[in-house]
Amino acid sequence: MSTATFSADWLQQREPFDAAARGAAAEHLQLQSRLAALHPSETTPWRVIDLACGTGANLRWLAPRLGGAQQWLVVDHDAALLHCWPERLAAAGGAPVGSHSALEQPLCFTGPGFDASIARQQLDLMTGLETLPWHAADLVTASALLDLVGTEWLHRLVAACAASRVALLMSLNVDGRHVWTPEDPMDATVGRLFGEHQRRDKGLGPALGSGAVAALQGALESAGYRVFSAASDWWVDGAESPQARSLQRTLIDGMAVAASEQSRASAPSVRAWRRRRRAMASEAHLRVGHLDLLALPS
Ligand SMILES: C[S@@+](CC[C@H](N)C(=O)[O-])C[C@H]1O[C@@H](n2cnc3c(N)ncnc32)[C@H](O)[C@@H]1O
Repeated sequence: MSTATFSADWLQQREPFDAAARGAAAEHLQLQSRLAALHPSETTPWRVIDLACGTGANLRWLAPRLGGAQQWLVVDHDAALLHCWPERLAAAGGAPVGSHSALEQPLCFTGPGFDASIARQQLDLMTGLETLPWHAADLVTASALLDLVGTEWLHRLVAACAASRVALLMSLNVDGRHVWTPEDPMDATVGRLFGEHQRRDKGLGPALGSGAVAALQGALESAGYRVFSAASDWWVDGAESPQARSLQRTLIDGMAVAASEQSRASAPSVRAWRRRRRAMASEAHLRVGHLDLLALPS
């Protein structure tokens, strides 16, 4: 088992691509109208729990779309990421109040039509999931988390949500698709090895990787939820911008490392794939498949 650690730089690099992908999914999910119908009254604040919040990309995207007064509890096991929040909220231009690095200090994030107060908590979701205040939440959300978790953990999540009839919004869950243009003969092999590597235990049980959305959907439906899903794919066009080229190269490197770890015998051909792909990055296009899932208690 290896603990999952993510650098703040990586989370920052992916954030604009995540935001674009989520915008497309939100329309298909009718996200804003479905969430608005769920919220009991305009005078009551939304109470939201963000699982594995990293440096706050999920809140920065969702808070303006929820609108109104909001109370967020954001949790992650990585204290370094939680400490980045004040700086990252300031960079988002949402008039953050409070630049407190101490995690006990609440933060605020306000903008046109929304006002979010934020409590940060360092928590290992493997051991601490059931300690969260489920009964005092309207919505539980996470972005880019599901591929890390195992079946048992998913069932614990569903049990906790169902007992308190909490809605779920799980965004940017990889579905295993990597579509490269132009193609390379090694794309499929690298994609397969990367997918196998993704299923290693990262601290939340043997990981479901790209199978997590289907598993969660089944468990939620069995618990009586109405479940909606929509594609939230990344479109990474190397010809479009330096940011896209840079993300493409980061993804190539990450896939190559994982694929080589998964199959030592394939390491030389994976290294050659990496060289070819990096050289092509300014004209290549990569689509990375993701799914967003919204579940409403019925
Ligand atoms: C891919 S990052 C996503 C972060 C953030 N939601 C975003 O979209 O930018 C996955 C996050 O899961 C957190 N994480 C992984 N294992 C965890 C655990 N056992 N308990 C709590 N957080 C965990 C990591 O620290 C990281 O912040």
